[in-house]
Order: sequence, then C-alpha cells, then structure tokens
Amino acid sequence: MADNNEIYNPPAELVKNANITKFMEKHGLKTLDELLTKAQDYEWFWAEMAKELEWYKAFDKILEWNNPFAKWYLGGKFNIVHNAIDRHMNTKTADKVAFIYEPEPENEKVERWTYRQLNTEICKFANALKKLGVKKGDRITIYLPMVPQVAIAMLACAKIGAIHSVVFSGFSSGSLKDRIIDAEAKVLITADGAYRRGKLVELKKNADESVKDTPSIQHVIVFNRADTKVNMTEGRDLWWHEITAQESDQCPTEQLDSEDMLYTLYTSGTTGKPKGIVHVHAGYAVGTYATLKFIFDLKESDIWWCAADVGWVTGHSYIVYSPLMLGATSVLYEGAPDFPNAGRWWKTIAREKVTVLYTSPTAIRMHMRYGEKWAGEHDLSSLRLLGSVGEPINPEAWRWYYKYIGGERCPIMDTWWQTETGHILITPLPITPLKPGSATKPFPGAKANVFTQDGHPIKPNENGFAVLLTPWPGMLRTLYKDPERYKEVYWSRFPGIYLTGDSCTIDEDGYFWFRGRADEVLNVAGHRLGTAEVESALVAHAAVAEAAVIGVPHEVKGDVPKAYVTLKVGFEKSEELKKELKDWVSKEIGPIARPEEIEFRDKLPKTRSGKIMRRLLKAEALGKPIGDISTLEE
Ligand code: WTA
Repeated sequence: MADNNEIYNPPAELVKNANITKFMEKHGLKTLDELLTKAQDYEWFWAEMAKELEWYKAFDKILEWNNPFAKWYLGGKFNIVHNAIDRHMNTKTADKVAFIYEPEPENEKVERWTYRQLNTEICKFANALKKLGVKKGDRITIYLPMVPQVAIAMLACAKIGAIHSVVFSGFSSGSLKDRIIDAEAKVLITADGAYRRGKLVELKKNADESVKDTPSIQHVIVFNRADTKVNMTEGRDLWWHEITAQESDQCPTEQLDSEDMLYTLYTSGTTGKPKGIVHVHAGYAVGTYATLKFIFDLKESDIWWCAADVGWVTGHSYIVYSPLMLGATSVLYEGAPDFPNAGRWWKTIAREKVTVLYTSPTAIRMHMRYGEKWAGEHDLSSLRLLGSVGEPINPEAWRWYYKYIGGERCPIMDTWWQTETGHILITPLPITPLKPGSATKPFPGAKANVFTQDGHPIKPNENGFAVLLTPWPGMLRTLYKDPERYKEVYWSRFPGIYLTGDSCTIDEDGYFWFRGRADEVLNVAGHRLGTAEVESALVAHAAVAEAAVIGVPHEVKGDVPKAYVTLKVGFEKSEELKKELKDWVSKEIGPIARPEEIEFRDKLPKTRSGKIMRRLLKAEALGKPIGDISTLEE
C-alpha cells in the first residue's frame, strides 16, 4: 500500500556531490524548494542548460510560444550529433568506451565501442546513405534489434539531417508497414535476425513482408547480425557491411536549424492509427541532456545502464542521445532479462560495475517474482542510484527494488514522462526525499498540475487529469503530417493546456501520484497500446463481427488486454477460435498486443449512438460498480 508519510531521505554524501547540488551552489540556491521556485522562470533555466551544449551559431531567442506550437532556441545552428559525438573527438572522451554491448548468446563476445570507433562507423554509414541518395529531410525507417548498429544508424541519419523513424523490432510486419507508409520512408534499415530468449527472430523476413506494399522504399539495408540465410532482392536490398566497406571514415555533420526535425516515433493513441510524434534537434537535445545529468547524476566515472529497448522513446532519449552527449559509458544488452536465467542482469551489473540502473516496474516485478536469491548471488555494491519508468511503480515493488537491488543505499528516481514529452518531466532529483510510489515533483523548469473534469486544480489527494501548464524544450512539436490531430488530442480538453492522458493525485506535500491512463490506452509491460488498435486487428479477422478491448490488471505486466468478441453468422464459438484470435492479434500487431483473455458475447453494450461502452465491460470485469448507464441502449 502507498503511504504518504513513508519517507526515504537521500544519503548525505550523494547530496553533497550531486550535479544538481553544484548547479544550485553556482546560482546561490539552498534548498530544493528554492531551486524549483527559481526555475519557474523556465526560460532562464532552459537557457542555462542550453549553454552547456555546443552550437555552430548561438540562438538569439529562447522560446516562441504560439500555443500549442512551440519553437525553442530560435536562430541557433545546431546538430545533436555534434554534441553526442563530434565534440568528444578532440578530448579524452574519444577513447572512452561509449557502449558495452552484450549479445544475448553467452558464447558471443562482449564488445566495447569507444566514441572514436562509433564516430568512424557513423561516418561510413552516413556516407553510404548519401550515396543511396538520402538527403536532409528524408525519412528512414529503422527496424533493428538492440545492437550498436541501431545507435549508429540513428546517429548517421541525424548527422546528415535525415529523419529517423525507429520501429520496435518486436512489432509485426503489419505494424512496420503502416509506419513506413505514414512516414513515406525511402530506406528501411534492418537485420537478418536477432536473438530473443535464445530464439532467432527473423527480422528480414518481416521486413520483406512489409515492403511488398510500401512503394516509397527504394532500398533495404541489412545488417548481418545472426549469419542466417535471407532473401536479398537484387537492386533493392544491400548488406550493411558491403555498402560501408569502401566508404570514408570522415563525413561532415550537417549544420541544421534548432527546429529541424530529428525523428518521428509512432506511439499508441485512442484510435486505431498510431501517432507520429515529432521531435527536433536542439530542444530535445537540451531536455534529454539536462534530465540525465541532474536526475541520474552522471559523472565521468559512472557506468550507466538504461535497460530499455531503443524501439521506445526511453531508448532514444536515455540509451542513445543523452548518455552520448554526457560522454558516458553505457551498457547495451541485446536480449531478455531472464535469459538464460533470472540472474542475467545482476551478473552483468557485477561484472561491469554498473553504477546507475534505469528500468521499468514490469521488469522489477518480474525479478521480484523470480525471487531475490538471484540478485543475492552477485555483488551489486557498485550501484549508487536506481530508476524506474513506464508505469506507476507499486510501493511493494519499489521497496523490493530498494532493498534487494539497491542494498538500501540507492535512491530510486521514479521518473514520469511520455513519448510526447521527449524527456523526463516529473521526477525526484538525488536530493529529493522519496515516497515509494510517487514520482514526487516537476523537474526544474516544468509546471504541472492535476485538474478536475471542469478544469479546476484538484484538492489534495483527489483524483484528476494530469496536465502540463508551460512549454518545455523537448516537447513534441506536432504529430507527423497531422497538426489538427495534435491540437485535438493534447490541447483541446482544457484549451491551451497540455493533457497528458494520465490520471493522478497530488498529496499535501505537493507530491504527484500517477494512477495510470485516464483514456483508452493500456500500459502493457510498460509499452503503450491503444485498445482501438487491438480492436481493429480483431475485426480484421474473418470470424469477428465486433470487438471491444479493455485493460485488466496483471501481477507483472501492469495491464493486459482482454477482448470481448461477437462472431459473424456461420462461425462457432470455440476454444480453438479463441486461440486463433489471440495468435492473430500477435501476428497483426506484435506479441505485446496478444489478448490475455477472449470472451465471446452475443452482443456488446452500446450507447444509443452506437458507441461500445468499454467502461461497463471494465466495471464488470473488475467487479466494480457500473456507474451511470443512462446512455446505454438497452
Ligand atoms: C506512463 C514512456 C507512472 C504514463 C517514457 C504515461 C508512468 C505513459 C511513468 C507514457 C511513471 C511513464 N509513473 N506512469 N514514472 N512513466 N508512465 O509514451 O501513463 O511509452 O502517459 O513513454 O507511461 O508512455 P510512453
């Protein structure tokens, strides 16, 4: 259970040496409250942070806010890759390890990539892309597993001003296809295969399936990860190692405008069509850099491990871009956390002396279920700080993480943010007293609140809608090719105010307690999934007439989809059909979308206007009161 008064104070030594403490000393700020108050002047705070990065040309205006459209650091010339890679080439960071890459099969060697080696590969790959005709503004879809080449591909695109769109390698060919079509990508970068729980995932096969229907794709570049046999279409498909072999290891970084687009990343919303979140070079760089520096307190000597997948925003912001901007050494692990057994992560932490670990509540609950004996077998004393992201962390999991992984020494940074926000926004700092289950307070320069239905701030401990009141540098700029939907989804419920879609409360001390989504979006194992996406996959099956999908709580994964299905005439309800429908969804979207349960119904509850009332199904499934049913059809 959550308890507003269970408080964990940060260790004095950590506070004394924290990056945020140094920042506060520099500006004559004595307490966390003083810092947060001073940073309410968010243009001041974000200008200070921008000064720590290198600009080809300094910006002359910090912010232009035409609500809801923001531009940051106007007039600046910038490239995130200059800050992540180029600027280290003349310092001792050049020969520091950037990535410790650990393949899943234990008989394969751990690779250590220095900044200099990364730079060489990025340049070669960028030159190869240019030779294929890739230019500034072109979209490139990346469908790669967790190998260093995923970072290299992203950085090579950004270097030449092309826009990357990374698609999680666990997504199906159908999901990949939709994302390629929306982005009108010119090139697809993939691998022959990848390892997951000891099994080979045939990525190239999925890619082939997708590009059958994507006329924009001119080339498919294939990284040879697994030495497995694949079909190569003459003229279209190219091997990564062949096209880079003869390329120069020098490639100039494009001097871009601050607001030039860096990437688009598709995320689930309340309709069946994923939204292309748009991020730009400069503001995103400043926001991710500042949050990693102050929240996870990265120093020269740290070994950082963000155990997410690059296919999600966490991987973009905290595996690829910000650690490199900070000159950090990070672990990049290819596979599953419990392969070949539940000790895999702990063994790696002990071997590499990882100092800061950032993961999700789902992973923590999974390890909790395996038991603390696995962590107990390894020396985790190098850890000094822990992090959590992706969903609310239940206090029981928090305490377990704190005790068995952090050895009761390491504060847990429960960081709240979204694909849309680009970087962490509501979070503890290493100097913040913690309450298990609370993401504590807005990061300096951010302003958040929780509103009632009619747009008033809630009273302490009441539930409401979490909102963001002021712009921040890493915010999404729009939805790709759809500014109207951008306005509608985020800025119309409370005009001019950013709606997060999360339900939340704030306690007497001003601490935020996130409760989960307030809309038709699920959080399956920390991954966002729209119920509408699962429904549209189901109704695409020949047997299904209608489908309604709800999220039901799951011990490990947070939410899991449960589907209610009515069948077309001529189809019989059966256990086999249930299994077939589950497999179908898995194939259509990806294994994360697989319904945990399917229930056949003769009819679904609907409003008079014909909308399915998922709320009723949910109340029934959870044994809760069904609430207002005045709009129910019958
Ligand atoms: C949820 C992941 C509670 C939330 C970075 C949000 C959280 C959605 C937390 C975004 C947290 C993320 N506590 N809930 N610390 N962090 N969420 O876009 O519902 O994949 O809206 O970004 O995850 O998921 P997304």
